Amino acid sequence: MLAPKIVLVTGANRGIGLEFVKQFLLLKSPPKYIFACCRQPDTAEELKGVAKGNPSVHVLKLDVCDQSSIDNAKAFLESKVEGEGLNLLINNSAIISHADLYNATREDMAKVYETNAIGPLMVVKSFLPLLKKAASVDPSAAMSCNRAAIINISTGVASISENSSSGLYAYRASKAALNMITTNMSLDLKNEGILATAIHPGWVKTDMGGPNALIDTVTSVTGCMSVMEKLHGEEGTGKFYHGVRGDKIGWS
Ligand SMILES: NC(=O)c1ccc[n+]([C@@H]2O[C@H](COP(=O)([O-])OP(=O)(O)OC[C@H]3O[C@@H](n4cnc5c(N)ncnc54)[C@H](OP(=O)(O)O)[C@@H]3O)[C@@H](O)[C@H]2O)c1
Repeated sequence: MLAPKIVLVTGANRGIGLEFVKQFLLLKSPPKYIFACCRQPDTAEELKGVAKGNPSVHVLKLDVCDQSSIDNAKAFLESKVEGEGLNLLINNSAIISHADLYNATREDMAKVYETNAIGPLMVVKSFLPLLKKAASVDPSAAMSCNRAAIINISTGVASISENSSSGLYAYRASKAALNMITTNMSLDLKNEGILATAIHPGWVKTDMGGPNALIDTVTSVTGCMSVMEKLHGEEGTGKFYHGVRGDKIGWS
């Protein structure tokens, strides 16, 4: 059963991130704390509406490109959880660029890489002591999303072996880098009992996915949560899953 006690989601003000917050609240055993992070809490009306009726939800400012906002969010979480640590970190936030070979620019490549690859890595680095704390509560437990886990929301178009249409230079490359970061983390953190896996949420009707996408956020997140529930031990870490189909995607 998926039942992490303390969860953090980035980019939680809209799209897939917001739906994650809603679905964690619907679990049989909902988290004690959900840290719903976004760049601009002041304008995150729907998320703040969810938090209003659910005291377990804390809306935090966190811009993955702004280290001080990451550090401030970490300090707030630490003060709230009183030594309990962080069980599940979902790196969901991202930006897309549709630039092709002829339109890709140095600035565009750098901005997307900064947001989609460097940002999630820096978030993990900051929250790592809290993930380690959560993992240490039961050193004999198998790795899982209930114990201590990093879920990096990736994309199927980051798969090199499945690339048959080209385009999206910055987005594909940044998420392929995120996938590599995920495998690295899975190796570095295995002995600490922390799982790290990437999930593709499907093609989803959000601002990013657009109106022609195949599924809604409810279907996407229901699938991702089902995959997360099954991630267990060494078999569950360092993988790249299709969140809706539930099977693995080729890394390379
Ligand atoms: N939708 C799809 O079809 C699809 C397909 C494959 C993968 N994905 C992946 O799924 C995840 C969620 O996508 P989505 O469709 O929900 O996208 P979305 O609707 O465009 O939402 C993106 C979220 O990321 C946040 N964000 C952007 N830059 C940020 C930064 N520097 N720091 C913190 N937050 C930032 C946005 O915040 P603001 O509101 O402040 O901009 C927003 O909350 C992404 O990782 C995306 O790559 C989506």
